[in-house]
Amino acid sequence: MKSNKAIGVFDSGIGGLSIWKEIINLLPYEDTIYLADSKNAPYGQKSKQEIIDLSVKNTELLLDKGCKIIVVACNTATTNAIDYLRENYDVPFIGIEPAIKPAALQTKTNAIGILATQGTLTSELFHSTSNKFTEGVNVIEQVGEGLVPLIEKGEIDTQEIKNLLYKYLKPMLDENIDYLVLGCSHYPFLIPQIREIVGHKVTIIDSGEAVAKQTNTILKDDNLLNSTNNSKHLLYSNADLNSMIRIVSSIKNCTVKTLDF
Ligand code: DGL
Repeated sequence: MKSNKAIGVFDSGIGGLSIWKEIINLLPYEDTIYLADSKNAPYGQKSKQEIIDLSVKNTELLLDKGCKIIVVACNTATTNAIDYLRENYDVPFIGIEPAIKPAALQTKTNAIGILATQGTLTSELFHSTSNKFTEGVNVIEQVGEGLVPLIEKGEIDTQEIKNLLYKYLKPMLDENIDYLVLGCSHYPFLIPQIREIVGHKVTIIDSGEAVAKQTNTILKDDNLLNSTNNSKHLLYSNADLNSMIRIVSSIKNCTVKTLDF
């Protein structure tokens, strides 16, 4: 039965685990297969065509493994490749985009910050969403250059990360932002360090919960929900496994493996 198949999730590395965690919390009966393409991280500095090619490679592997739906748990891959994937593969795709809309609708200071990769901030999809919702709002966009490789290495609570974050966030604080949008699935792992810099007056938003809810909606609409399962989770990385193991170690029924893809 198709509903017994797994939810496939991919990212350029371990960042998408922030989304995957929301999915397994909301959908506890579902099996999942997660691909961390850490060997090719970061995607954020690559060309649109390179991001499409890597997304195709990940999608085909998840389809070979029989996945019933694919969650592109990467803003950079979503904003550059999801149209191509939807046109070329006959399976539902869920993407993740920076949550600009709620930030722009709720800001009281009329200033919001967006921290994302270069690939996301320069994409057509990001521009069209941003133009639709941010008229009259001061939007401070910032590329989080250098953050993803450090997160991949597990170097999170370090002075190097704190210095980079301060450099990226200080100009936003100077503009009096009250919302900060995390537009890269790796960045939720930095929330404690970001909070130290921005304080409690700034609301930090990421899209993880919204992606999990949307996955639930589409599975329900397509009669693909698995309601009778003891869920199992297979997580593959094509690079060092340590950071992944650290993140999933407290979660039940996870198998973490190296795979060359
Ligand atoms: N985690 C990804 C994102 O959400 C990509 C980070 C990268 O590989 O540059 O954009």
